[in-house]
Amino acid sequence: MRMILVGPPGAGKGTQAARLVDRYKIPHISTGDMLRAAVKEGTALGREAEGYMSQGALVPDSVVIGMAIERISQPDAVEGFMLDGFPRTRPQAEALDEAMTAAGLSLDSVALIEVDDSLIVDRITGRRSDPETGVIYHLVFNPPPPDVVDRLVHRSDDTEEACRARLVKYHNDTAPIIPYYEEHGILCRVDGVGSPNEVTERLVTALGHE
Ligand code: AP5
Repeated sequence: MRMILVGPPGAGKGTQAARLVDRYKIPHISTGDMLRAAVKEGTALGREAEGYMSQGALVPDSVVIGMAIERISQPDAVEGFMLDGFPRTRPQAEALDEAMTAAGLSLDSVALIEVDDSLIVDRITGRRSDPETGVIYHLVFNPPPPDVVDRLVHRSDDTEEACRARLVKYHNDTAPIIPYYEEHGILCRVDGVGSPNEVTERLVTALGHE
């Protein structure tokens, strides 16, 4: 199964991807996670990406496309993958199509998780991640257990200001890929409001894979 999760920042892509890859036994490929790892390691790519990310801007296509295409070519992604956060621009979507066509492959589904902008800032500013397990919590909606609280991380782009900038980028640059995949007949829309379990069940139903 080769699929993409799309949605605004804080829609729950990372939360849902963690559940779905467990169910479908495919790798979770998050360009946000890959870029954060590069920033942490201080690689040349990470140094280039850092300034864009902290301001809520998109990292240039010239940096991200090669990184993502190279990752889906790895052996663990041969049978399928779940892309989260890529593609995020029309040129990224076209580059992905070209690479897949060249490899004789095609995408099965693109799931759009829909959440109104009015709910996003609360979700983003309350997010905390566990660097040891990768689990994503929310201080109110999904509170962390007391024994992990001290090690939780608050992402540098999870301020209200950066979140609002990310929302603008989403509507300007990423939303145009939605009609692109609609035209290809592989887009499904899923309501992202409700408990994480409810959203997972909607996704599984929409994707048509138990
Ligand atoms: P990235 O890491 O991809 O960030 P994002 O798309 O902004 O998405 P988030 O990770 O913020 O949110 P999410 O949808 O995964 O939500 P989550 O599950 O965590 O990208 C970061 C940056 O990297 C970009 O801004 C850009 O600079 C760069 N970048 C990455 N990819 C790029 C690309 N392809 N091109 C260019 N630049 C790129 O949930 C959020 C919170 O809500 C959590 O606290 C969670 O517990 C809570 N929550 C989840 N589900 C629910 C629910 N159902 N109800 C209530 N709360 C919920």
